[in-house]
Amino acid sequence: MHPSTGAICDGDRPVVFVGNPNLLPELARTGKVQVGRGRFEGIDRRAFHGWRLINVVHDKSRQQALLHSTGIRPLAHFTAWTRDEAVAATREFLANGPCVLKPNAASGGVGVEVVGPGATDVEIAEVVDTVVARCVAKYGEGAEATVYPLRGFEFARSTGFPLDDGEHLWDLRIAVLFEPGAAHVFPVSMRLTPEPFDPTTFAHDRDQWVSNVSGRTVTLLKSGMDDVALEAVGMTQERIDDVMAACVTWTVNAWDASARGDEGLGAYEDDREARDPSFYPRERWA
Ligand SMILES: Nc1ncnc2c1ncn2[C@@H]1O[C@H](COP(=O)(O)OP(=O)(O)OP(=O)(O)O)[C@@H](O)[C@H]1O
Ligand SMILES: [Mg+2]
Repeated sequence: MHPSTGAICDGDRPVVFVGNPNLLPELARTGKVQVGRGRFEGIDRRAFHGWRLINVVHDKSRQQALLHSTGIRPLAHFTAWTRDEAVAATREFLANGPCVLKPNAASGGVGVEVVGPGATDVEIAEVVDTVVARCVAKYGEGAEATVYPLRGFEFARSTGFPLDDGEHLWDLRIAVLFEPGAAHVFPVSMRLTPEPFDPTTFAHDRDQWVSNVSGRTVTLLKSGMDDVALEAVGMTQERIDDVMAACVTWTVNAWDASARGDEGLGAYEDDREARDPSFYPRERWA
């Protein structure tokens, strides 16, 4: 990183495009970028494909807060800055059901763990330690720099996808591509968990509820455009249309919030926008 401009460089060569937002935590873990309160500081985000949305990629609580006016109910969630805070907040959450714990700035399902109702403080602390340990195992030394804040979420149980061995949970990835004046939105992939869901045992079996594909030998992947698969879980055409509209609204919310500088970074990063602050107004996507 260039010390005064924050531009990303490789030696003395400027880096003009970065596709994967996960590079940023990697730069933080290796001490090349500073982290403050879970966010990456002093770096010019323009080279990233996600540009100013890069922090929201790594902050799953903020992703929930940005669901306003989409019609999707945000999940109850908390943000914990220490091990003790994480244990106390999880304990409180368990009164309403299972609690999913996630590390900051990770992906691929790494460190995503669940705590079931009735767990003791010792058991909760073990899961918190597992989240950190999984991140260190996957990302190596220095992973502690980005693992906090830990975030907790209510458990969202999907409908079941019927297979021979039982009903499998699933999720659906939706892509939104946008530019001034237009948004393109389409379902990409539907992932099924490797094992059927059993509400009495899932808390001890990630294969029953974590659908990530990376690093798995068994993957049950469907196309997001497979109408038969979508119908099987209750995703009618009408529902898909609602979900796609919600995803566009979410993206506009995220862009709008970041452009207005709600991260304390009010500066415009684009010359076009600096000359004309209304260059990326949300109405353009309406
Ligand atoms: N609140 C939840 N309730 C039920 N299952 C969940 C919940 N959060 C996550 N999961 C399961 O765990 C998987 C991984 O979680 P998530 O997608 O949040 O993390 P990630 O894949 O590591 O991050 P990212 O998607 O940002 O790369 C999800 O695909 C889903 O199968
Ligand atoms: Mg994921």
